[in-house]
Amino acid sequence: MRIVCIGGGPAGLYFGLLMKQENPAHRITVVERNRPYDTFGWGVVFSDATMENMRAWDAETAHEIESAFNHWDDIEVLIKGRRMRTTGHGFVGIGRKKLLNILQARCEALGVELVFDREVDSDLEFPDADLIIAADGINSKIRNRYKDVFKPDLAVRPNRFIWLGTDWRYDAFTFDFRRTEHGWFQAHIYKFDENTSTFIVETTEDIFKAHGLDAADEARSIAFCEELFSEVLDGARLMSNARHLRGSAWLNFNRLICGRWSHFNGNGHVVLMGDAAHTAHFAIGSGTKLALEDAIELTRQFHNLGAAPDQIPTVLAAYEEARAVDVARIQNAARNAMEWFEVVGSRYADTLEPEQFMYSLLTRSQRISHENLRLRDKAWLENYERWFAARCGINVIADGPTVPPMFTPYTIRGVTLPNRIVVSPMAMYSAVDGMPNDFHLVHLGSRALGGAGLVFGEMTCVSPQGRITPGCLGLWNDAQAQAWKRLVDFIHTTPAKAGLQLGHSGRKGSTSVPWEGGVDQPLERGNWPVMSASPVTYLSDGAIPRQMTRDDMERVKAEFRAAAARGAAAGFDVLELHCAHGYLLSSFLSPLTNRRRDEFGGVAENRARYPLDIFRAVRAVWPHERPISVRLSCHDWTEGGNTPEDAALFARLFKAAGADMIDCSSGQVWHDDKPVYGRLYQTPFADKIRNEVGIATIAVGAISEADHANSIIAAGRADLCAIARPHLADPAWTLHEAAKIGVKSVPWPQQYLSGKTQYETNLARAAAPSAAGLMKA
Ligand SMILES: Cc1cc2nc3c(=O)[nH]c(=O)nc-3n(C[C@H](O)[C@H](O)[C@H](O)COP(=O)(O)OP(=O)(O)OC[C@H]3O[C@@H](n4cnc5c(N)ncnc54)[C@H](O)[C@@H]3O)c2cc1C
Ligand SMILES: Cc1cc2nc3c(=O)[nH]c(=O)nc-3n(C[C@H](O)[C@H](O)[C@H](O)COP(=O)(O)O)c2cc1C
Repeated sequence: MRIVCIGGGPAGLYFGLLMKQENPAHRITVVERNRPYDTFGWGVVFSDATMENMRAWDAETAHEIESAFNHWDDIEVLIKGRRMRTTGHGFVGIGRKKLLNILQARCEALGVELVFDREVDSDLEFPDADLIIAADGINSKIRNRYKDVFKPDLAVRPNRFIWLGTDWRYDAFTFDFRRTEHGWFQAHIYKFDENTSTFIVETTEDIFKAHGLDAADEARSIAFCEELFSEVLDGARLMSNARHLRGSAWLNFNRLICGRWSHFNGNGHVVLMGDAAHTAHFAIGSGTKLALEDAIELTRQFHNLGAAPDQIPTVLAAYEEARAVDVARIQNAARNAMEWFEVVGSRYADTLEPEQFMYSLLTRSQRISHENLRLRDKAWLENYERWFAARCGINVIADGPTVPPMFTPYTIRGVTLPNRIVVSPMAMYSAVDGMPNDFHLVHLGSRALGGAGLVFGEMTCVSPQGRITPGCLGLWNDAQAQAWKRLVDFIHTTPAKAGLQLGHSGRKGSTSVPWEGGVDQPLERGNWPVMSASPVTYLSDGAIPRQMTRDDMERVKAEFRAAAARGAAAGFDVLELHCAHGYLLSSFLSPLTNRRRDEFGGVAENRARYPLDIFRAVRAVWPHERPISVRLSCHDWTEGGNTPEDAALFARLFKAAGADMIDCSSGQVWHDDKPVYGRLYQTPFADKIRNEVGIATIAVGAISEADHANSIIAAGRADLCAIARPHLADPAWTLHEAAKIGVKSVPWPQQYLSGKTQYETNLARAAAPSAAGLMKA
């Protein structure tokens, strides 16, 4: 085959040499606009997994790279006068120039033609090529020629960074955070050869401008960074080798995703590779890894499917399919890490104590969890657990036993929860006339026995018309209050506290119990009229709600007030106001469902006016020493709906009105919403609100194991974790998760103690490899 690689970066060179090695008969040329040893940048980092992959495909190149590697295990963090270190993180670094020189030399040895100093403007300059690799980097001319085909989605990220080097030899991957009069800067520093370290300085656009760096030339920028980071530089100088850049040496990262990667240009096939196809932010240092793995995958597909011109379309389709998944995975992790650095100054640096700040930094991509950190650096993690436990009032002994974060107590107003796990409110649709019955006693009672720190009952309705279905629970009369008291009293025989979620169904009311007529479906018989902020239905064929009048609003407020007073008398410890999921109060908050023109509609502050009014009414009758949480849909997942920014604004308003916590849910406001589901998918909302607004939060949604909860609590992304569906599968979720991570100190009901011992022993047996072996024998 005739192959031309446009661009002599890692992708183009490596693909060229791999294919030549596969079959020396291929005629391969790499065309590069720079001269051989002219390149920008300093060091790049790889993981062990990338190296293993490279060894399998070209042992010689891998060996050369490995001999030039610098390996280090430690991460050091400097912030607010503290210098903290952890180990076990295993990175390798190599100079970009060195890497390219190795690849160039190997290309030459194998007979790949290298053409330097030639700027390529079009793929049509190579009419004889069967295959053209567009490996011409992020600003790829070739990709841009076929925009309509490749459909590039390029997002210019808000932070500014400058990629510098220094001859100071750092023995750890170092992160240095410095505050100026305008805000925070961070440096990402790592050594990549015997004498040199990469030194990337990053900040937000407004801070960059406030310091006049937009008008500064390279020399002034360097002088600024040298002064700011003088402590960590310890007299060393910073250097630039970005002379090819015009204007400011400060860049914005461009995040690139392409809809397609290949195209037939009439003569040959053009395929994108490396940064021309996708980018991953340097916060997880994977751009070069992705470029090299693209080259490996395309070679593998030619190897498996046949390296002949007529096979090219099949091979390219297989390449794209195989790489799409891996690239998306890395890009997701890179996005989390990149966003962390974009908000670090406004969200974490001033708010979190250095210890917790470091934990948050280490887990920024959400790929490294609590137990993962334990594997990397047990001593560091255990010390952190002790530090965290001491902050929660636990009497810790140096080197003594540790308490994982989810099992630390939590005090809010006058209420102390024994741990951080909450049974999330879950409608059971099993009441008649809103009355709690034996089902509810056993259901909530068994979850209280199961170890959670706070057990919420389901959405409890303030009036018969405020029910979702005829099976919903209520608190609009004294008989219901008496029945609730029996449940609350039972919960109080366990260490758990009892939570009451008060709500009104609004436009989502008068529907059938899910297993009778389907979820959210209007009742066939016995309907009641529904009302909402505006006459906007939930289902397109659902009942049209009446727009609430001022009289309606006053009446419903009185119902909330009366229900809260009954709840307080029944002994509930925590109250939650349900302002989420498209029910009555949520329908005021969302612009999708609130179309009012009075003072309760329009801008966010107006939309929040009625929910805040209700909040103040219940706060006034709810005992001062007991906390109130507010559940919000922090994202409507619908164009034109509320976003996390709106949720943060609502949180601020509720905080000012006396709310103690925000329970951060999302969606269910608009029927066609498009939530982006995934592990811990709503936790970023809890993180944002907690650390930007300064109010306690409850994280909820796809939190399914102790490792998740520990990571969330330890990093300060939330104060409590609400677990819903896993509690339907396992009432004793908390006790079982404790046993799974080897925590024996969480108390089981004394009646169940012999079950505890057996459960723990069985888990230990199942985990012991020798035991497994014996079983097989
Ligand atoms: C600050 C920073 C830090 C980074 N740190 C890391 C890290 O630690 N680890 C990591 O893995 N990655 C890192 N990267 C990313 C990494 O540099 C790229 O992802 C990687 O180089 C991609 O390789 P590539 O071959 O696709 O593109 P490039 O390396 O960009 O190579 C493209 C080549 O094409 C040439 N070219 C472009 N247009 C033409 C043309 N018209 N004609 C001829 N030649 C042309 C260019 O001169 C260049 O040599 C970092 C990036 C930045 C900005
Ligand atoms: C059966 C069921 C009923 C629910 N009822 C309520 C409810 O009454 N009030 C509420 O705020 N959320 C309700 N939810 C949402 C949960 O509280 C929780 O936010 C959601 O299930 C995500 O958590 P998970 O991934 O742990 O299940 C319900 C969820 C389920 C599965």
